[in-house]
Amino acid sequence: MRSLVCDLLQLRLDDQKDGKLHKRLYNAIRLSILDGSLPPQSRLPPSRDLANQLALSRNTVLTVYEQLLAEGYVVSRSGSGTFVSRTVPDSLLFSSDASPQSRHAPQQAILSARGEALLTHSRASSRQWGAFLPGVPDVSEFPHALLRKIYTRLSRRPPAVQLSYSPSGGSPTLQQALMEYLRVARSVRCNPEQILITEGIHQAIDLVSRMLCNPGDRAWIEEPAYWGIRNVLQMNGVDLQAINVDLSGMNPPEPGDAPPRLIFVTPSHQYPLGCVMSLERRQRLLTLARQTGSWIVEDDYDSEFRFSGQPIPALQGLVEDAPVIYIGTFSKTLWPGLRLGYVVLPQPLAQALKTAHAELYRGGRLLDQEALAQFITEGHYTAHIRRMRLLYARRRQRLTALISQYLGKAALSEFNDNAGLHLVLKLADDCDDVALAKAANDKGVLVRPLSRYYLGDTPQRGLLMGFAAMKEEEMEGAFKVLVACINSKSRA
Ligand SMILES: Cc1ncc(COP(=O)(O)O)c(C=O)c1O
Repeated sequence: MRSLVCDLLQLRLDDQKDGKLHKRLYNAIRLSILDGSLPPQSRLPPSRDLANQLALSRNTVLTVYEQLLAEGYVVSRSGSGTFVSRTVPDSLLFSSDASPQSRHAPQQAILSARGEALLTHSRASSRQWGAFLPGVPDVSEFPHALLRKIYTRLSRRPPAVQLSYSPSGGSPTLQQALMEYLRVARSVRCNPEQILITEGIHQAIDLVSRMLCNPGDRAWIEEPAYWGIRNVLQMNGVDLQAINVDLSGMNPPEPGDAPPRLIFVTPSHQYPLGCVMSLERRQRLLTLARQTGSWIVEDDYDSEFRFSGQPIPALQGLVEDAPVIYIGTFSKTLWPGLRLGYVVLPQPLAQALKTAHAELYRGGRLLDQEALAQFITEGHYTAHIRRMRLLYARRRQRLTALISQYLGKAALSEFNDNAGLHLVLKLADDCDDVALAKAANDKGVLVRPLSRYYLGDTPQRGLLMGFAAMKEEEMEGAFKVLVACINSKSRA
């Protein structure tokens, strides 16, 4: 009598139009095991019976049984036959759709604990351009034609090495150009070999934290701080300790028995509040880092844009051989999508971190880097920054005037320095800035809630507002939408 198993295998054989017979039989049995049609420990028909009933040669059946045996799908018990293995992993069994055309259960997206944590804290917006979005420069003002001309010239006959991986931390021409620019504009002390070209600050911090911290090592970060950096550090298993910021910047505590391995600061323009770290605090931090063997990571993300007074020199250049890893980016001076930045590495770390960068990310885009180097050395970079500084100063003034006019001067944070690409609009302590920002975002006004930049549970409330990428004449309309949201929340 023909068995049900034979009927099932016949059906599955018929479903497969192509392939050799033994391959089709193998697939038919294997998929029947995987989708549970042939449950664990069930008996397969004797090879002779199966061969007869499916009109196959016995050799074909024996070859398939041997293959399944070798792969662990079946076991053979001498004298009693061939059985589906008990040890076929459960996760491979019981697909939701048993049809032969779609036999695989959809793979489950099981993330690592770190991956899950990252998603819980992810804040990156799906919208990266719009009214009052913080942190973006006016990319439409960049002289793209000029840079393209340089690039076109260089790319006519690029040397082969410029089309390959980047072996030594980036283009030597860009390293040289940056060294000169940073010495004059930011008082950074270094030689070109200390400069590593990265794909921006995020990548630089990923590299630094992976190379200098073991899982569980401590890092100090400012409270509040940029959540993007926080996420990179947490992803790398770093134990974060949030250190309060006041009007003089980070106020470093006594390190005690657990000194930090890394200390992250934004001394020239604290992110997001806007204060400048005082000289006394800078010196204290440098002394502390030397005593504890910690590295200070200076994130100098937007200090080109100061609209009054003298530029604030970098912490890195304050003393000879400072224990400072200086990190900068072209995201604010040129455009964020360029994904180019740089690290000035202390001498003792330079070779190790450059090698690690090549191992982890490979690095390339040397032609882009050459073009950028020429853009800098021909004077276009500083000219562009000068022009943007004037433009952003006017835009900032317009936004502060609107805030004063509609909400009163008290809504301007006392932390705000006359600098940067964004400012903080102060809100009452009981205001739900997350709900308010969401309501504004729904109406196309892309402000960010200040409380989200705190690690601890006593955040200040406010809204981060970008002003750099908005024309002055467009500001009032969008600002009124925000004021309406604030008023409706305060009535609710
Ligand atoms: C303080 C701070 N650091 C770094 C970055 C990101 O820099 P990059 O685009 O070079 O990764 C940002 C982005 O807004 C920032 O606010």
